[in-house]
Amino acid sequence: MEIKKEIAKRTEEIEKVIERYLPAEEGFQKTVMEAMNYSIRSRGKRLRPMLMSETYRMFGGRSDVVEPFMAAIEMIHTYSLIHDDLPAMDNDEYRRGRKTTHIVYGEAMGILAGDGLLNLAFETATLALEKEPENRNVAKALRILAGKAGIYGMIGGQTVDIETDQTNEVTKEQLDFIYELKTSALIEASMLIGAVLAGATKNEQNVIEQVAKKVGIAFQIQDDILDVTSTTEVLGKPVGSDARNQKATYVTYEGLEKAKQDVEKISMEAVEQMESLVVKNEFLTELLMTLIHREK
Ligand code: IPE
Ligand code: IPE
Ligand code: MG
Ligand code: MG
Ligand code: MG
Repeated sequence: MEIKKEIAKRTEEIEKVIERYLPAEEGFQKTVMEAMNYSIRSRGKRLRPMLMSETYRMFGGRSDVVEPFMAAIEMIHTYSLIHDDLPAMDNDEYRRGRKTTHIVYGEAMGILAGDGLLNLAFETATLALEKEPENRNVAKALRILAGKAGIYGMIGGQTVDIETDQTNEVTKEQLDFIYELKTSALIEASMLIGAVLAGATKNEQNVIEQVAKKVGIAFQIQDDILDVTSTTEVLGKPVGSDARNQKATYVTYEGLEKAKQDVEKISMEAVEQMESLVVKNEFLTELLMTLIHREK
């Protein structure tokens, strides 16, 4: 399998899905729609919708009921990035190779565009109910989406991340908490929603949630590594952001070499655990492996 080509092909398909659910830029409030579309149309990796649709396929899902959820998870992820970049948070000026939303549209509009994307995500996800009104798994998926994005998920992680800025006193326990929530939660939502919509068993759901947790932790460690070792051109966002914010990261805590080893170790654990399932998706396995050495 030519994994790079396969990823590119799927990314293009995901772009089309997302595009279908974006708002028209019209009405007196059109500035907020422009700001929302500006940020979501800037090319991210689309990893979360990709993990969702591939997990859905792995468990035998074949309908388009997953599509509104794919768009929704990318909307929530994009909103989290817009707010993460605000001056009150990480204060970053570049994202996905261009100026951040608040730099282009101003801080107030950045906040509103994030809020707009969060609400649009749920409006969009509920469209799955119209596609399959009899499918009880849609309600379960909605609940997962809400929970993993919220105070027991991504927002909870961002809270502790921000509170532990400029302190060296972060414990390993706090660090693990931050990673599991700020990053793993949305990846868990992605894979778990794919599994639930496809009708995976409770046991399969548990396995996939644990796999996703590891994928998310490894993904965030790699993000922290790249913040030290990459360049803004390659990354499309500022390097050295964590140092500037005196942020305690896995890299400052464990050192660069140990961090690199752990990305590989944790990712391989995830792959092995996924391979313990009866169902298989060769592309998904290879995708997880490519993340180990990702450069952006
Ligand atoms: C960035 O996520 C934020 C983290 C959780 C590290 P991605 O690296 O998936 O960002 P995009 O979507 O490709 O821009
Ligand atoms: C952010 O982590 C994770 C989110 C929930 C947005 P980072 O602050 O490290 O993400 P980047 O490096 O700005 O993408
Ligand atoms: Mg941050
Ligand atoms: Mg940041
Ligand atoms: Mg980062």
